[in-house]
Amino acid sequence: MKKFNVCIVGGGSTFTLGFLKSFVRMRKEFPLQKLVLFDIDEKRQELVGKFGEILFKEQFPELEFSYTTDAKEAYEDMDFVFMQMRSGGLPMRAKDEHIPLSMNLVGQETCGAGGMAYGLRSVVDMIKAVHEIRKYAPEAWVLNYSNPAAIVAEALRREFPKDKRILNICDQPENVVRSCSRLLGCSWEDLDPVYFGLNHNGWFTHMYDRNTGEDLLPKLKKLIKENGFLPQDAEQRDPSWLDTYGMVETMMNDFPEYLPNTYDQYYLYPEYKVATSDPNFTRADEVMAGREKRVFAECKEVIEAGTLGDKFDDISDAHAEMMIEVAIAIAYNKNDRHILIVENNGAIANMQDDAMVEVVCELGANGPRPMGVGNISQFYLGLLVNQVSSEKLLVDAYYENSYQKALEAFTLNRLINDAKKARKVLDLLMEENKGMWPELR
Ligand code: G6P
Ligand code: MN
Repeated sequence: MKKFNVCIVGGGSTFTLGFLKSFVRMRKEFPLQKLVLFDIDEKRQELVGKFGEILFKEQFPELEFSYTTDAKEAYEDMDFVFMQMRSGGLPMRAKDEHIPLSMNLVGQETCGAGGMAYGLRSVVDMIKAVHEIRKYAPEAWVLNYSNPAAIVAEALRREFPKDKRILNICDQPENVVRSCSRLLGCSWEDLDPVYFGLNHNGWFTHMYDRNTGEDLLPKLKKLIKENGFLPQDAEQRDPSWLDTYGMVETMMNDFPEYLPNTYDQYYLYPEYKVATSDPNFTRADEVMAGREKRVFAECKEVIEAGTLGDKFDDISDAHAEMMIEVAIAIAYNKNDRHILIVENNGAIANMQDDAMVEVVCELGANGPRPMGVGNISQFYLGLLVNQVSSEKLLVDAYYENSYQKALEAFTLNRLINDAKKARKVLDLLMEENKGMWPELR
């Protein structure tokens, strides 16, 4: 049986540890020959890398494992490159969230003004990285879940139009499916969703029981009304994530037709989101005080002890598991269903062909085959056309070095929606992103 070579870009990320453990747990389903971590931040990655050396020595000794800051070493001979880079790191995420909030605009890493600021940074770095990957590994599958995935996907579509081995993915739709299984008391793999939208802006129109064919959405609506909505792994989540999932109930009271993606709340209730945010302690601060500290403390403990001890547990990591399942679907031509970000080409019949949309796809060795949803109704169409226009204008701004296009992207965005505010927040963010954004003139 062929063994695969995998590289993780963003080796020093707080999510990498979960991947390392999942590669051990899933080594039968997805046998690895070689795993390389790549990061431009040598110090950050070193801790995770040293943890990895101990983990694999004890749990997966036949694996060739290394970590590097050299692109050639990282990419050569790779079958899959998992991309989870965070351009500008968590300190810039904090600025993406704090600056808009200081003007009473939503402060979120992937949508609104902050999402667009992050978007311009990510587009610069992702395009550079994918060109480097193609230099050393022309055939590798690039599995991208770097954020903001919608904007990154649009930029990669334009930069690499003929490249059929770049796949853009987000874990949030599957996370919502997993939450539904918690409410229904079934396994999430028994659920067969129908979904449409853009990344971080979509809806489930059906949730079929894979075994009986029953559409469980009506039952789910009732259960959400009675019990609220929690992440599948609620016990491991920070308070802000519980709030985020809780808003699903609110959204379903106002718009009961479909089950929303948790991120729709930013588009539907921007004022409420601003009013309930602390401009001095946003999600970025919560991550730096929480997950980041926990992950690096765990690495240090294991490195000092020189052994894993009881630090290898069997708690599955949904995010890592999903990305590995995606690689498995491609590697073994499984044609499993995954919710992926793909060029529309009629999947949502009444949206433009070149929009990057998020829909259920069958995924195999030949890439994703999107499953069409037909025409969507005016309310959803209006929301999506507005958002996709903002995203496309932002990518135009990158390619044309155009301040004007960026201003249009910001003005059109529902989370800003005012030209004077758009100009002001754009100018503030441009100042803070000097050297990380394309130069806008
Ligand atoms: C979800 C989203 C990801 C995002 C992550 C942020 O999983 O789908 O796109 O990166 O949340 O999580 P964090 O815990 O860093 O706020
Ligand atoms: Mn996401």
